[in-house]
Amino acid sequence: MAVSEENNPNQQVETARLAFEQEFEPFARFSVDDTSALGLSLQEAEAEQRSLGELRSRHTGKKSALAAAKKLIGRVAPAERAQFGQLVQQTEAKINVSIDGVEANLKSIIEAARTAREGLDVTIPGRRPRPGHLHPVTLMRQRIEDIFVSMGYVVEDDREIETDFYNFAALNIPEGHPARDPQDTFYTTEGFALRSQTSTVQIHAMQRRGAPVRMIAPGRVFRRDTPDPTHNPMFFQVEGLCVDRGITMAHLKGTLAEFAHRLFGPETRTRFRPSYFPFTEPSAEVDYSCFNCGGKGCRICKHSGWIELGGSGMVHPNVLRAANVDPEEFTGFAFGLGIDRTCALIYELDDIRLLFENDVRFLGQFS
Ligand code: FA5
Repeated sequence: MAVSEENNPNQQVETARLAFEQEFEPFARFSVDDTSALGLSLQEAEAEQRSLGELRSRHTGKKSALAAAKKLIGRVAPAERAQFGQLVQQTEAKINVSIDGVEANLKSIIEAARTAREGLDVTIPGRRPRPGHLHPVTLMRQRIEDIFVSMGYVVEDDREIETDFYNFAALNIPEGHPARDPQDTFYTTEGFALRSQTSTVQIHAMQRRGAPVRMIAPGRVFRRDTPDPTHNPMFFQVEGLCVDRGITMAHLKGTLAEFAHRLFGPETRTRFRPSYFPFTEPSAEVDYSCFNCGGKGCRICKHSGWIELGGSGMVHPNVLRAANVDPEEFTGFAFGLGIDRTCALIYELDDIRLLFENDVRFLGQFS
């Protein structure tokens, strides 16, 4: 009569071993020394690792045939018990050794693949950063600053949010004065407004430094101007102020003529047209002969031969007083130039709004 597995524990262990050998067969290929030759991807190695875990629990877990065989140890005849116990243990150890070997190899394949995936190849050429450059208005401001600094002027930087006193009252523009209209600005908290001209810095500079003083103040200003090819609601001006004993209109004319020579070329001529600003008396608009046609007339100077540089004049005694400078002892001149328009002229832009559209294709041309 055939002996059943139930009755033959040794056979039961042998069957378990054979079943394992059969299922382990496909994993045997991972028991090699050089795992790189297997050419496994990370995902494939991870999938094999999962299957191997399942194989281990099937053959050594609580519900495995081997676990059932272990339960028989106490039931075999005492004379055979030790030998049977050894057989079960040895079979289990062999299964574990086979699985451990493959598992170690799969782990090292996975680790190597993860390192390769996360690693940096420092030999790959990097992405070259696109070099930036200064904005044309900044380039223009720097050229203007260089000229005045070489003439002994300091460069002042000041606030863009101002009180009524600095933007208007101290500049001899009292409340209700018609000169406030063209310089209407943007009001913030009660009593504060965005400055509509850099002339505000005349007062701050004199209060800070007293007299004599020689300074320029480039910066942003704001007005309720409707944008068009020559107007922006935000633009740049540079203010100039020179206060000392015995300063006359001749100094103003000489200084701006020298500035125009250095910026536009030595043959440039300047002219002064009578004008009106509440904070200067007398006041003048300054023009310079067109740098493009030399004064003959062309598209840039609208065929007049002249281009407007800005406003200027002798500092009004009321302004000196507002800044605690004695007009009996000191006199001075001041001027204010538009940087954006000068920039547009020099670079032959027919619309100053281009300067602030932040189009890199446009701005890239000024590097
Ligand atoms: C003034 O702002 C006076 N503060 C200048 C001054 C200073 C006169 C010191 C006397 C003594 P005006 O409003 O003209 O003046 O402006 C000066 C320059 O700013 C103009 O010549 C022009 O180049 C520029 N400008 C004026 N409005 C705009 C605008 N909306 N957009 C761009 N540039 C402007």
